[in-house]
Amino acid sequence: MTTTERAPGPALPFGVRRFRDQAAQLMLRMAREYGEVSRFRVGPELMHQVAGPEAIREVLHDSENYRRGRVYGGFELFFGKGLLTTDGEQWRTLRRAGQPLFRADFLHPSTPVITRAVDDLVHRWEGLAARGEPVDIVPEVMRLAFDVVTRVLCDHDLTHRADEVIPAIVHVLSAMFPGSVEQLLPAWLPGRHRRRLRATQAVLDAAVSELLAEHHRGALPADRMVGRLVAATDRDGNGLTRRRILDELKTHLLAGHETTGCGLAWTLYEIAAHPEVGDRLRADVTAVLSGRDARELTTTDLAALPYLRQVVAESLRLHPPIPMFPRQPIRDVRIGGYRIPAHSTVFVSPFTVHHDPRHWADPEAFDPGRFDPDGPGPARYTYFPFGGGQRRCIGAPLAELEIQLAVAMITARFRLRPRPGHPVDPHSLISLRPRSGLMMTIADTVGAR
Ligand code: HEM
Repeated sequence: MTTTERAPGPALPFGVRRFRDQAAQLMLRMAREYGEVSRFRVGPELMHQVAGPEAIREVLHDSENYRRGRVYGGFELFFGKGLLTTDGEQWRTLRRAGQPLFRADFLHPSTPVITRAVDDLVHRWEGLAARGEPVDIVPEVMRLAFDVVTRVLCDHDLTHRADEVIPAIVHVLSAMFPGSVEQLLPAWLPGRHRRRLRATQAVLDAAVSELLAEHHRGALPADRMVGRLVAATDRDGNGLTRRRILDELKTHLLAGHETTGCGLAWTLYEIAAHPEVGDRLRADVTAVLSGRDARELTTTDLAALPYLRQVVAESLRLHPPIPMFPRQPIRDVRIGGYRIPAHSTVFVSPFTVHHDPRHWADPEAFDPGRFDPDGPGPARYTYFPFGGGQRRCIGAPLAELEIQLAVAMITARFRLRPRPGHPVDPHSLISLRPRSGLMMTIADTVGAR
């Protein structure tokens, strides 16, 4: 084999719509059929998947040859130039500004903010349980995640905007997809899509403008996200423009709620589908609380709940909320003996690797035992729900804390059961969202408070 060889792949391009609806599943099939490096087109766009752990490490740790690229460019339609979409010095300035809010010394004391938000959800569900009403948990946990990200990072309640912002973000996810109508429209063109695009941009801008206005009014602590961005300077001492600050706030609203919401929804689904897992978690949490209210859970308590961490880790393996993410080589690169041309798109997919039987025995089975703390643990880049290298998810510590707290509090209180006959079909629309929601019946283990 010569190193100039093209990677193998299908002769015909995937249609944009098919790719948009089933990208993660298609990537898994590509790896099975064509191996660790494969080549395909989506419409006219040349793309590759890199699916071997060592090759993934090469891509994610090489900031010389790779940039965010065209697919992330689609995010700019709504999120402008924030942490997700920029490279180089711009990215470094933003990462430096936000990073302290994701460290343990900030997050651990924020635990009561999260438990209060989860408690609001528990109250809502008490009513549903009492009336025997089933609930689609997806919008419920999305709302919770939106509430948590704004309260923890900004110390502000934006829940009055949740009913517009959350659907706007769902629209954004489809509009950002490579080749979507919105991306292809020239800016001057009037019409339905353009109007919807503008309306969505306006909803997101209004939400983050409220945050900035609250900051300028002195209503937000200076050490939270808005204050940090307002005070941030680049290497030359220049501050961020208003536009950049709003872009970065939007980035955190999206990246912080949609992913965490998906992660929590799938975890609750797996617990509901495996009652013995729920029973064990409930017993663990009850023992750790030893009579205290679940609202008083602390990070010290979480440290004493290893099985809870195993359950969450296994759920993020089976259903990684970001099933795949792109890079773009700025020059020709070689991976696994194949030539990847400059400016094509390279996807790495946690979904593909997490479902690979070479790394995970019986990969479709939900088995928290895989993450037994006494076991060897997964090999490098066989498990990477939060990505890796210098662009590893900044929000991972918040997401893990939030999901663990929410799962502990919800499981301590309720027995969830999937509603029989309700379809469970993941839709890989950038995030791995259950397409038809996740309908559950809720039984209160305590009775109304
Ligand atoms: C279970 C929840 C989450 C998952 C699975 C997840 C996953 C990821 C992944 C895979 C990446 C890397 C993308 C790439 O390298 O191209 C990423 C980046 C990022 N995530 Fe998360 N994320 C989660 C929660 C959060 C939260 C709670 C926040 C913020 C509040 C957040 C903010 C970000 C940002 C801003 C980036 C870009 C980081 C950079 O490029 O420096 N994420 N996330």
